[in-house]
Amino acid sequence: MDTKKALLTIDGKTLELPLLEGTEGERAIDITSLRRETGLITYDPGFANTGSCRSKITFVDGEKGILRYRGYPIEELAEHSSFIETAMLLIFGELPTQPERAAFRDMLSAQELLHEDLLHHFEGFPPYGQPMSILSAVINSFASYYPDLLDIQTDEEFRLAVAKIISKVRTISAFAYRKSMGRPFMYPDPNRSYCSNFLHMMFSIPYKEFEPTRAQIKALSLFLVMHADHEQNCSCSTVRMVCSSQANLFASIAAGICALWGRLHGGANAAVIEMLENINAGRLTVKDYIEKVKRREMRLMGFGHRVYKSFDPRAKILKKAAHKLLHDQDMTGDPLIEIAQELEATAMSDDFFIERSLYPNVDFYSGIILRTLGIPVSMYPVMFAIGRMPGWIAHWYEESRAGGKIHRPRQVYMGPAERKYRSIEER
Ligand code: CMC
Repeated sequence: MDTKKALLTIDGKTLELPLLEGTEGERAIDITSLRRETGLITYDPGFANTGSCRSKITFVDGEKGILRYRGYPIEELAEHSSFIETAMLLIFGELPTQPERAAFRDMLSAQELLHEDLLHHFEGFPPYGQPMSILSAVINSFASYYPDLLDIQTDEEFRLAVAKIISKVRTISAFAYRKSMGRPFMYPDPNRSYCSNFLHMMFSIPYKEFEPTRAQIKALSLFLVMHADHEQNCSCSTVRMVCSSQANLFASIAAGICALWGRLHGGANAAVIEMLENINAGRLTVKDYIEKVKRREMRLMGFGHRVYKSFDPRAKILKKAAHKLLHDQDMTGDPLIEIAQELEATAMSDDFFIERSLYPNVDFYSGIILRTLGIPVSMYPVMFAIGRMPGWIAHWYEESRAGGKIHRPRQVYMGPAERKYRSIEER
């Protein structure tokens, strides 16, 4: 039997379809000739079983709970790498040397300010404007501020665009928060590291610099590393889809931010904290909550994943990090982590969750870290977006360089068959 081909028999005709094999042995049936040969299309709502591209960036094995960026296990990156180093790995393909990392850090520092005209955009939003809408709008406006980077051709142009996005996203995010609080913007400080600078812009006030502890900086960097990429999820696929029309990098990233916003994706971390706070306020017990989930009145937020059918490795790492940060901040009595652990233990011993292979995902413990850092819930999806920036950029680059086709799925039409137009008097 030819292991490189699949045979499909339909209406008495047998078609040979090539098989594609990935580095880790996953196999896919190449159906690109299917419609031409048979008139049939495939039907796969939610693209749950569709491979949309070949990619060299991130590997996930959902059955075994494996996640690797460019071949490096997430556990090793969590232990040894910083967010900027991980971002360089994802975007440029390799871990940087010391001079490469230093040069990139200098580029980030050079790009950390926003064009002063851009600050007027913040004034255009109401005081309680949604930080995600501000972030996507301001990133989208980069296309107007940097017209020379709309058609990226050279490595230098790409590096400059990368530095602008990775550096300015933290300034925009912090400014969006300051705007919502009615506080003056704190300008970035080029002498600080990436994470320290972000916390400074969030929490310093005039004449009183905020000095984050090492533990806070480490926890934030780890949070960002955990979110840096996760292959073809909803927002990444959105970035690649927009890119496939040859739209520019800034427009594609802005679209990714919008896709991330929903409660089933990047909005889940905020939903988890709301759930834990509701239980803590005595509005529901853990048992009541689980029963409601089983009656399908609500979902257990931060649980379940399209790909992971075992433990999400990021959840394990973040659970440990949440405990460590609470300990370092002398906040070990935080009731929310107790409730989260009780929810986890109750769900993991309940047949409803066992039968459906539902485990904690990246969002289950991440909110506890953000809360301990003093970051308000409205900013949680924004924090996810800052972390996911390197992944989106890496996928945009891969898609744009693959020279592939515009993304354009088909459908099975279920609407009315052809009918005759009736004038308004006849209806
Ligand atoms: N609580 C209760 N039941 C669930 C949950 C949950 N969190 N997740 C899945 N299920 C059930 C679902 O009801 C279905 O049961 P049945 O087959 O009896 O109808 C079964 O499990 C399969 O669920 P699905 O909705 O078909 O699975 P999916 O792959 O389409 O959805 C998911 C994946 C992440 C959207 C979903 O698990 C979910 O809604 N989780 C809660 C939201 C969340 O935590 N999102 C963050 C995901 S990880 C980070 C990210 O990508 O942003």
